[in-house]
This record gives sequence, C-alpha cells and structure tokens, in this order.
Amino acid sequence: MNKNNKLEHLAIIMDGNGRWAIKRKKPRLFGHKAGIESLKRTIDACLDFNIKYLTIFAFSTENWSRPQEEVNGIMNIANQFCDNDLQTIINKGVKVLTMGDISRLPDKLEQTLYKVVDKTKNNSKLVLNIAINYGARAEIIRAVNNLLSSGIKECTEKEFESQLYTSGLPDPDLIIRASGENRLSNFMLYQCAYSEFYFPKVHWPDFNKKVIQKAIKVYSKRHRRFGGL
Ligand code: FPP
Repeated sequence: MNKNNKLEHLAIIMDGNGRWAIKRKKPRLFGHKAGIESLKRTIDACLDFNIKYLTIFAFSTENWSRPQEEVNGIMNIANQFCDNDLQTIINKGVKVLTMGDISRLPDKLEQTLYKVVDKTKNNSKLVLNIAINYGARAEIIRAVNNLLSSGIKECTEKEFESQLYTSGLPDPDLIIRASGENRLSNFMLYQCAYSEFYFPKVHWPDFNKKVIQKAIKVYSKRHRRFGGL
C-alpha cells in the first residue's frame, strides 16, 4: 500500500472516443484512432512524471456488444499499435503486461500481444498494463474458481490477490475516467478499494500532458488515510 502521496500507479478509463468523433462528423473509428495518439502522449507523460505503472482500459468484456464493424476496427487499431509502436515502446523502456482473457481475442491480436509482452519483459521504466477483454467481475470469479480448483476452502486477501490479473502490481493510486462519466463500469473493482478518483470532462482523444499534470496536482492534495486517522 502506497502510504505517501507518490503517484506510483495510474489507471485510466479511456472514454469518449466515439463522442469526440461524432462531434467532428467523423466515424467512431476515427475517434479510436485519435485515442491511440492520446495513449502515446500519456505514456510519454508518465515517463516524464516518473509514474511507474499505467493501466489502461482498452476493451471491456461488455464492448463485444458493439456493432461488429466497430469491434473489428478496434481490434485492428490495437494490433497496429502493438506492431507499429513496438520498437518505440522498447526504446522508451516500457514493459507491457495484459489483463483480461486474451485467449478470446482474434488470433492475430492474441499473438501480437504475446510478442509485445515477451519483447518488453526486461524493461523497467514504466509498466503499461493493458486491460483488454477485461471485466472486474469476471476477474474476481476467475480468481475464486482458480482457488477452488486448487482445493482451497478458505483464503486470505494475499492468496486471493495472487489470483488476480494484477498479482505483483500495486493497487492503483489514482483512477481517471475521461469524458465526464462518474462511474467505474466494471474496472478494477477489487483493486480500487483505496484509490482516489478523478473525472475530467475532456474526451480521451483530447487528453494530454496538461490534464495529467492537473490530475497529479489534485491527487497530491488528497489526504489518503486508508481507514486510519
Ligand atoms: C472508449 O470510447 C474507447 C474504447 C471502448 C476502446 C478504445 C480502444 C482502442 C482504440 C484500442 C486500444 C488497444 C490497445 C492495445 C492500446 P467510446 O467508444 O466508449 O466513446 P463514447 O463513450 O464517446 O462512445
């Protein structure tokens, strides 16, 4: 548990790509493509601000219900990001992890993600944890089932946490949701127990270093007590 106000783990719900595009009379995928540029700016900002972990909500277990064309487009954009930006990610010292059931993703993207995770495994400047085909309830049920199938009848918090996708990562200190919605939408429900929240109005494609700087400032003024005094 991060008891001082150092922002070690930032988690972001990258919302508003569609609305951003519609406002510009463009197709929704145009917004998702712009969202990737925002993600790259955010990675750079995290490196500049010495944030050690960045978790991003890239695709939820509920996002499959979108029109097939949008789902396919998002998968292609994710694949392009991993392929085209792999060398840059390696050069910047970013280590990529995934959380979620990636075995249900299109084969090509699943393989690309394995490759990115493998090729970046020795990096240590920033961990980029990509939540993809991720839902917090599914994550919790998966942890319970893993424990049950190991024959365990009762478990400690530590044992339970060891079965979450985030095993080995600190809990998020700050969760940001872009686009002005004030909800978590099935994101990191176990890990957010003591997280701070920040809900800027800006749509994800307009997200930039200044917004992160403001978020860090707001966060640094919060008084985190973790149930104590
Ligand atoms: C939220 O905007 C964004 C998404 C649901 C998905 C965006 C994900 C990607 C483009 C792929 C990222 C993948 C990797 C591997 C980095 P929204 O469509 O919900 O916006 P709206 O609420 O305005 O409709």
